[in-house]
Amino acid sequence: MGDEKKAVIERLKILRDVLHDHAYRYYVLDRPIIADVEYDQLFRELLDLEGKFPDLVTTDSPSQRVGGEPLEKFNGVQHRHPMLSLENAFSEQDLFDFEERLFRFLKDFPELEYVAEPKMDGLAVELVYEKGFLIQGSTRGDGHTGEDITRNLKTIAAIPLRLQGGDLPSLLEVRGEVFMSTDGFKQLNAERAAVGEPLFANPRNAAAGSVRQLDSRLTARRPLDFFAYGISELNQIDDCPTQYELLNRLAVYGFRVNPLVGSCRNMEEVVAHYRHLLELRDSLDYEIDGMVVKVNSLTLQERLGTKARTPRWAIAWKFPASQATTRLLDVEFQVGRTGTVTPVAILEPVAIGGVTVSRATLHNEEEIKRKGVKIGDMVLVQRAGDVIPEIVQPILDLRTGEEKQVGMPVHCPSCGHMLVRENGEVALRCINPHCPAQRLRSLIHYTGKAGMDIEGLGKKVMEQLFNEKLVVDVPDIYALQPETLEKLEGWAKKSAENAVAAINASKSAPLVRFLSALGIRHVGEVTAALLVERFQTMEKLMAASFDDLLAVEGIGPQVAGAIREYFDDISVQKMLALLQEQGVVPEEKEEENAADQPLQGAVLLFTGTLSSFSRDEAKEIVKKMGGQVSSTLSKKVTHLVCGEKPGSKLRKAQALGIAVLDEKAFQQLIS
Ligand code: IVH
Repeated sequence: MGDEKKAVIERLKILRDVLHDHAYRYYVLDRPIIADVEYDQLFRELLDLEGKFPDLVTTDSPSQRVGGEPLEKFNGVQHRHPMLSLENAFSEQDLFDFEERLFRFLKDFPELEYVAEPKMDGLAVELVYEKGFLIQGSTRGDGHTGEDITRNLKTIAAIPLRLQGGDLPSLLEVRGEVFMSTDGFKQLNAERAAVGEPLFANPRNAAAGSVRQLDSRLTARRPLDFFAYGISELNQIDDCPTQYELLNRLAVYGFRVNPLVGSCRNMEEVVAHYRHLLELRDSLDYEIDGMVVKVNSLTLQERLGTKARTPRWAIAWKFPASQATTRLLDVEFQVGRTGTVTPVAILEPVAIGGVTVSRATLHNEEEIKRKGVKIGDMVLVQRAGDVIPEIVQPILDLRTGEEKQVGMPVHCPSCGHMLVRENGEVALRCINPHCPAQRLRSLIHYTGKAGMDIEGLGKKVMEQLFNEKLVVDVPDIYALQPETLEKLEGWAKKSAENAVAAINASKSAPLVRFLSALGIRHVGEVTAALLVERFQTMEKLMAASFDDLLAVEGIGPQVAGAIREYFDDISVQKMLALLQEQGVVPEEKEEENAADQPLQGAVLLFTGTLSSFSRDEAKEIVKKMGGQVSSTLSKKVTHLVCGEKPGSKLRKAQALGIAVLDEKAFQQLIS
């Protein structure tokens, strides 16, 4: 062999080692030590060299991650040990019954420990490693025979092409789940929508579809990930007495293992872990559909053995489903406060995760077309956390031919005015400023949480006052008398007095509140804050020209135009003048200096009840001191302020490493 080739072999070996190490740090540990460009450079060098010397390409080379020529079909793979499925549990009782069966089988074993693992909602695969090298990867198939998808699995960065560490087993068959993150899924669907390709119903289908591509170069472009959760036969690994240690060993070999695996000393801890995962569920960036409970001792797992298709030592405790199928009975059109007409699906009521769902959003006409739903269809409906339920897709196999196309309205369902579609927007809009539906929605917005937040004037009450013609426009709110309210259905003296007191108190609300309450198009809380910051008073804001508005950072021509249009409207001017006469004088912003802004840059989130302030008072203080208040937990939050009985936010904040303050520490912060 020539010296040159020797040098190439040497260099290729170094490149592969270095690239494996960096990929492991990046994809498995999530702690990279070099920049992406540097990685890319090394990767390109590897591809170049292998291009020049194709005979030096190895099966474990990182170049295998990019995929290769399409296959005709997948070959079948016989699993050496069957890939089992799991029995399901749906309640705590089912879990205690499971434990009782274990005790019975093990003949009065005193106590059992468990491992509780998130049940990934992806697809099960088997990875075969010989002498530490990945030689085959396959789907579960019918449990005995799967499909050979080795080339596709090699494109998944979280799957090691070779194992790490010394003393590797001669044969290791790793089992685990391939999945797609929810973000990756959304992005993939957005890209598919843009080029008119059919959408995937959920991340699991997207992962399954991606992994079964005959062209592995396509698989390589899909955001797939992998968690390992077991091996096919326990004697493949030495000196490993428990499931928990088995997972640790897999991590040592270079696999990603779910960090939310819990080690539980008894069934009570298993139940606690289930609740913990259920709370975390909506904040995770991948989908889990339950928790798998496994007997921790591997010796006991062997003793317990398996039944025909399921092991005796494990059970899947399912979460309440977040999807269900039901019939789409009709589509209604709802007019929002800015006139936007939204199609709303009327569904045959169905329970999803403990809540009865009878309406779901269909967003807009384009969405209806893209999803291809028809009235009368059986549809898959999804509900996640507090989000409005939505229709995922129609179930085409259940069509009878009787289904009807969804017709879009030409006239406003509330006032009959002709609907328009404004430049470039997909939404239909009613532009009649006197449209009753818009009026009512605007009033609900004005008194609601995103507006003046007037206690006692929620959605139902505003509907009542509007239908009774007591409140038709904002100034009518300030003319309400306790005596009038008292006589209405569902009201009493006390509630009427309280409501009027709350209305009066709102007269001096901060200007930011008032501005977002007005419901000017495109002006929510964020833009309102920008406007107050720049113009300080209502008077100056109303006098600002289009160009003045455009000069504010964060405000573009569309928003500036909407603001100008709003204040130029004579009826708006009349209304604002009337409000002023009624004593509605929002608190304007004072000139401030840096010393008043000690919480600049801080983002606080409150949970639990505070004893010396109301939540709203505390928020006001934070804002006055230059801090921001968040209503949801995210990485942007800098401090979690915890009162009595904190909710799940506390645990999540701790998991995210966010500073947690009790009430005393919070008082110190603001003193
Ligand atoms: S253990 C014999 N652990 O759930 C044990 N399965 O019906 C078999 N799954 O097809 C699997 N996360 O794809 C196990 N942490 C986990 C899991 C898990 C998801 C899936 C797996 C299997 C199905 C069981």
